[in-house]
Amino acid sequence: MAKVVIHSIADGPNEVLVDGRPVAYLCRCGGSSRKPYCDGTHKRAGFKAPEAYVNVLE
Ligand code: FES
Repeated sequence: MAKVVIHSIADGPNEVLVDGRPVAYLCRCGGSSRKPYCDGTHKRAGFKAPEAYVNVLE
């Protein structure tokens, strides 16, 4: 089974990793015009949030 990890990038989006490879960047600042995907708005908005890792499936 594939290993799926959500990596919350510090001050940025949720990076979805499948078997160690990034497959999507999901907005967590709420400002993207391309939801659910990140469009870089978090940088202009000054979004601040800590880095974190969550294992979803292994
Ligand atoms: S996290 Fe990048 S636009 Fe929201």
